[in-house]
This record gives sequence, C-alpha cells and structure tokens, in this order.
Amino acid sequence: MNKTKVLTGITTTGTPHLGNYVGAIKPAIEQSWRDDIASYYFLADYHALIKGRDPKRIHQSTLEIAATWLAFGLDTDRVTFYRQSDIPEIAELNWIVGCMTAKGLMNRAHAYKAAVQANDEAGEQDPDKGVTMGLFCYPVLMAADILMFNAHKVPVGRDQVQHIEMARDIAGRMNHHYKTRFVLPEAVVGETTAVLNGLDGRKMSKSYDNTIGLFVPEKQLLKLIRKIKTNSLEPGEPKDPDTCTLFQIYSAFADADGIAAKRQQYINGAGWGDLKNELFEFLNGHLQLPRERYYALLDDPAFIEQELLKGAQKARAEAAEHLGTIRRAVGLKPLA
Ligand code: TRP
Repeated sequence: MNKTKVLTGITTTGTPHLGNYVGAIKPAIEQSWRDDIASYYFLADYHALIKGRDPKRIHQSTLEIAATWLAFGLDTDRVTFYRQSDIPEIAELNWIVGCMTAKGLMNRAHAYKAAVQANDEAGEQDPDKGVTMGLFCYPVLMAADILMFNAHKVPVGRDQVQHIEMARDIAGRMNHHYKTRFVLPEAVVGETTAVLNGLDGRKMSKSYDNTIGLFVPEKQLLKLIRKIKTNSLEPGEPKDPDTCTLFQIYSAFADADGIAAKRQQYINGAGWGDLKNELFEFLNGHLQLPRERYYALLDDPAFIEQELLKGAQKARAEAAEHLGTIRRAVGLKPLA
C-alpha cells in the first residue's frame, strides 16, 4: 500500500502551551496511529534561528518540545521524528530550490510583508529594516522541508497555508523545468481542531502573553485557570457556554457526553468558581501522567537525543537518496 505522507514542523522557540497541544500535537499524535499514513514530524530548529538569536533558548526549546511529544506517547518507531538540523540534505535542497524561486514570490510572503508594513507604520526610511535573508527566504526553507520527503499533506495553522502554496509552486517549477517528480503538497488546516482562547479571551498565543503552559505545576495550573476571564453573571444565572473560554478548553479534552453534560451545567446556572475548579480537576486528570513523564524526560536528555538520532537516521537515508536524484536532475553530477 502506498501510504500518504504527512509532514509537519514545529519551530523550536518557546515552551509548548495548551493551545499548541490541542491545535497541533494532539491531532498529530492521534493521526500517527493510522496505518494508511506515514508521518514525518520534525523540530524546525533552522527555522528557529530566524526568530531568535539566543542559543540557550533554542537549545532548551528543542529539548522541551521533543520531551513534550514523547511525553504524550509519540511512537518513534511508527513515525519519523527528527531534528531539521540533523538533515543537512535539507539545507542543500534549500539552495537548489531557492534558485528556482522568484524573488517576487517571496516579496508576497506575509511574514515579510508584515515586517515591511511595521517599518512603514513606524515611519522608517528603510522598508527592509531588521529583515534578514532568513526571514525573507523562510518559505523556501519550508519548501525544502516538505519537498525533501515528497510529503502529500502538510497540517498547519491557517497562517501557514500561503507557504504550502509556495512550496507547491516551487515544486511545479522544478518538475516543469528539470523533469523532477516532486509531489505537489497540500495544506491541511484542521477544521475540527479547536483554536484555543487564552486567559484574556483572545486566541492563546505567546505573542499575547495569555497562554497556559502545558506542563506548569498543578498549583500554577489552578492559579492560571482562576485567572481566565469570565463575565459577571452570578451563580444561578444561566450562562452561554459557546462564548466561554472555560467551556472551550473543556470541550477540547472531553468526549461528546461530557461536553453535553457541561453545557447543561451552564444552562442551569453553575457558578464561575465551581466551573473553574471543575475545569482544573478535569484538565489536571488529563495532564498528570504526561506531566510526570515530561519532567522525567527532561532529566534524561541523553535518551531524547538518542530518539532524535534514530529519527535522523531514518530521515537521512531517505533524504540522501532523493537528493542524489535531484542533484543529477539539475546537472550536479560526476564528470565521468
Ligand atoms: N513555519 C512553520 C510554523 O511556524 C513550521 C515549519 C517549518 C513547518 N517547516 C515546516 C510546517 C514544514 C510544515 C512544514 O508553524
């Protein structure tokens, strides 16, 4: 059976929060159990260099993100789980496909456009102030990540869809000009997976500083849940679950029966204090075991390293063979 290849990258900046788990990690791990899919999940540490220049942070984030995926039971024998920078073939492909990428295409990439717009709004003379080649060419590196493994499907957040379309465009140009046979990748945006709200009711995001860390200690989890913004309705007054962050977080972890029962509680006018305590108990029940595993894993970086090297070995074997074909196609080959 020809498996569908599903590939996604996680930039190694920061510490995972509940929103990351619900939006990306949980669906990815669930999908990895399917037999008709070959999953490629990687730590995008080359990409992390675009966003941050603190070596300690990038290193620590790589450790934390790898530990998180393993703590939730990712089976590294079933999936190819690797660190981008362990696959130098990706960096080489980045160069090759970059030579087939129009600069004008990159001018339209939204991360770059946002930077230019911010400069413009700040009254800067130079529209490119603070823009590195890394930021400008970031979609090319993403294309190399994807095309290296001929991924069919790429699960991403809505903000990344444009980059997958660019990868498709680049693959098409390569195929047309060099007669390579790159798969044209498709973005998959989870319609059913929730985008969680944060403490203040806006989308949970590091940039809003409103996140709930996935593995914060119990006490802090309770404290954060108590901080979640609710309205001023009193106990006994019916409440609207559909506009409530507590309900939304609950729903992301509960089954249909649990969600229906919780909905009824809102209609019956449960008090915010009780709803918050219950959410804590429920969430803590789900996170307790992975949390323990997570801290045990952080104490054993050598084990994590070994898991990543195992993944790199699998990934590199495939990447090296594919890169060989690509090199020959573009004319980089022995003279005799
Ligand atoms: N840029 C992606 C993000 O910020 C991460 C990423 C890097 C990625 N390379 C990728 C995602 C390749 C999918 C495929 O979310």
